[in-house]
Amino acid sequence: LATKWQDKFQLNIKEIDAQHRRFFEILESTDSMLEKTELNEQDVFQIMRLLMDLRNYGFFHFHTEEKLMVKAGYPEFLSHMDLHDDYMSAMNKHRLNFVGLFHTFKEGTDNRDEIFAYYKDFVAFASEWYQNHISNEDAKYAYFIKQK
Ligand SMILES: [Fe+2]
Ligand SMILES: [Fe+2]
Repeated sequence: LATKWQDKFQLNIKEIDAQHRRFFEILESTDSMLEKTELNEQDVFQIMRLLMDLRNYGFFHFHTEEKLMVKAGYPEFLSHMDLHDDYMSAMNKHRLNFVGLFHTFKEGTDNRDEIFAYYKDFVAFASEWYQNHISNEDAKYAYFIKQK
């Protein structure tokens, strides 16, 4: 489910490529969890941590990208920034939903199946979003910067 870095994602901007690679590393680190058939209490905490990593690394990365686009005078900067904000909004919504499930679990209800299903959706969303965004949107500003 979680996808590996592929060479086609390479934009030939060193700092950006390094950050994109790091994001796929985080995604890959979710794989071992996805293979589990049953979750224990520690796994539930681990899932929480992975979800935070996916969300927070996105935030950090967008900041780097937006600075770069402004510096380069990329004309589609504002609409690109809207796409980043869409990702953050979606992730924050997922986070809130997940926190709800997490509290239910901590209060003693065994909702691990629900947590697991939600976790898979969340990872799939982040993975798909990133692949599309790099290939279709980040590629545009990278092209612009290299033409300058
Ligand atoms: Fe990016
Ligand atoms: Fe981007």
